[in-house]
Order: sequence, then structure tokens, then C-alpha cells
Amino acid sequence: MKEKLEKLKLEALNEISNCSDESSLNNTKSKYLGKKSEFTIVMANMKDLSNEEKKEVGMCANVYRTILTESVENKLKEIKEKELNERLEKDKIDITLPSTKINVGTKHPINMVIEEMEDLFVSMGYDVVDGPEIDSDLHCFEMLNLPKGHPARDAQDSFYITEEMLLRPHTSPMQVRSMLANVEKKPFKLICPGKVYRRDDDATHSHQFTQIEGLVVGENISLADLKGTLEIFVKKMFGEDRTIRFRASYFPFTEPSYEVDVSCFSCNGKGCPLCKHTGWIEILGSGMVHPNVLSMCGFDPKKYTGFAFGIGIERVAMLKYGINDIRLFYTNDKRFLHNFDRKEI
Ligand code: PHE
Repeated sequence: MKEKLEKLKLEALNEISNCSDESSLNNTKSKYLGKKSEFTIVMANMKDLSNEEKKEVGMCANVYRTILTESVENKLKEIKEKELNERLEKDKIDITLPSTKINVGTKHPINMVIEEMEDLFVSMGYDVVDGPEIDSDLHCFEMLNLPKGHPARDAQDSFYITEEMLLRPHTSPMQVRSMLANVEKKPFKLICPGKVYRRDDDATHSHQFTQIEGLVVGENISLADLKGTLEIFVKKMFGEDRTIRFRASYFPFTEPSYEVDVSCFSCNGKGCPLCKHTGWIEILGSGMVHPNVLSMCGFDPKKYTGFAFGIGIERVAMLKYGINDIRLFYTNDKRFLHNFDRKEI
């Protein structure tokens, strides 16, 4: 029996080393170790042997099983490695092939203008704040020096949700909110970009549009500061050779109030259809914060002064990019949107 096992072992080892794939290896394994193998028969016949022989043959059988199992395992590893190498060899990646184009979204022109303005004002030390689009009559009007029944309220033509709450018709309630939130009543500078809502709808007006509110409160803040700030803003957004002019206007929450025009970039001030032959284009409302507003919000108007401005983002974007219909911003026509910040990978 010992000799038989020895012979089987040599045969098996030889066959295992000749296997070239997993299935032939499995067949060989069951031929020499499986239930129907000669090895199993030898083991079954062991019961007829003497104790002495049983011990000897048993030891041989253990060696046989260990050596064959190990050699099958090693062979399997070898086969797998070979297969992997063959696959790697075959699946070469040609990095010179052109890639598939993926179209990614683009930044919306409104967001591009907001980001550009944020960068500019942050570089001048302003904070950027965010406010609610549904706000109270108190913040939107009353505390901005527009008591109930004030004629200027009609001009806003707002969307009321309840008696007291409305979709904000401008970002100016953020003036009130930020002054009230500044509990220590310290000087501050901030801008607030956001959506605003009015009952308007035509080629140059939309019922929803975007504004940036600016507010600076501190000691000795003067009209000269407002002018200098807006001059920097206009030159940065529309080009170094632009000039601005202040036109006296009226807002209940600023005194004095000004509308600010920029010299027309299409005709350089000579007069053309874009500026309606005036040489100037209106871009924002501004003024010195009204003393009533300062004191309603807890700032002593004898100690503090401030300036505020409200810029229409769509207007800036339309002028900057030569867009003639405000509704293009909201209809999400990809052909329009892809004119800005085009990206293709
Ligand atoms: N809130 C005003 C508007 O929407 C603009 C403005 C802001 C004017 C700040 C003066 C100061 O028309």
C-alpha cells in the first residue's frame, strides 16, 4: 500500500504540474483526492491491516494528502497569476485615443455678476449676508421710514401673503435686519445679494429679479465715501474709462437720495438707442441712511451715519453682456446659457 501511495503521489504531482487551467486542475484534484479516487479506496482498505501497518500507511496517507493539497494550491495561484498577466497584456489602454465629451453645466450670468461683486466688496472689507425672501411689512416698509399709508408704498406694488408678511420687494429690509442684529451697535460694512419680487412683467422688468443691497454704518461716514465706493464698483464692473453721475432722487429710507447713472459704454456718452440718447444709463439707487431709520434700528443718529445702495443685478448683467430681454435669464434656454462661462471637457 505504501508503494501504491508513493506511485500515485508521483503520478499526481506530474499531472498537477502539467495542468494549464483551473478546470483541468480541479479534475486532477478529484482524480487523486476525491471520493472516487484510488486514494479513497486505499483508505477504505486500511481497516483490514494490522495495527502496525495501519500506523505506517496512515502516516504515508497524511503526507500524500498534505503534499497534493499544497501543490494544487500553488498551481492554482500560478494559473491565476498567469491569467491576470495575460489579461493585462491584452487590455492595454490607449491613452492617445480621444476622450468622450461630457457637457457640464455653466454658471448662470446672474451668479457670475453676483460673484464678481462679492469678490470686489469682500476685497474692500465688506461682509456678505443672506436674508429671507419672505419678510414682514415691519422690515420691508415700516422700519424703513415708510409707515402704513405712505404714498411710496404703492410704487413697490408687492406680493402680500398675509396682512403682515410679503415677498420682499427689495433687499433693503436687510438694512433693518443687520442693524438690529448688530447688538453692540458697532460700525460695519456689508452687502446682501438676493431675489426680490414685484408686480412687474415685460422685456425689461420681471416679477422676480435680483438685487444687491449695500450698507455701511459708522462714525463720520459721508456722501464722499458713498461716491468713492460706487466709482470703484462701476470702474471694476464696466471698465476704467466709465464715469458716474449722481442724480437727486427720493427714497424714504435715505436722505439725501440719489439715483446713479453710468456713462453709456455703447456710445461713450454721445447718445445712442441703448442710453435713449441721453449718454447715461441708470444702474442703482442710493443715499445716506435716514436718521429715522438709524434710530428705529437702535443706532444713535448723532453719533453714527451711514450710506446704502441697491443695485439691480439683471440690469448690470444686461449691460455688461449686451442682453436685451430680461426674461432670457429665467427661461433656461441652454443656447443662451452656454454663451457664458463655456466649459467642455
Ligand atoms: N431699495 C431701493 C429699490 O429697490 C434701492 C435703494 C437701496 C435705494 C438702498 C437707496 C438705498 O429701489
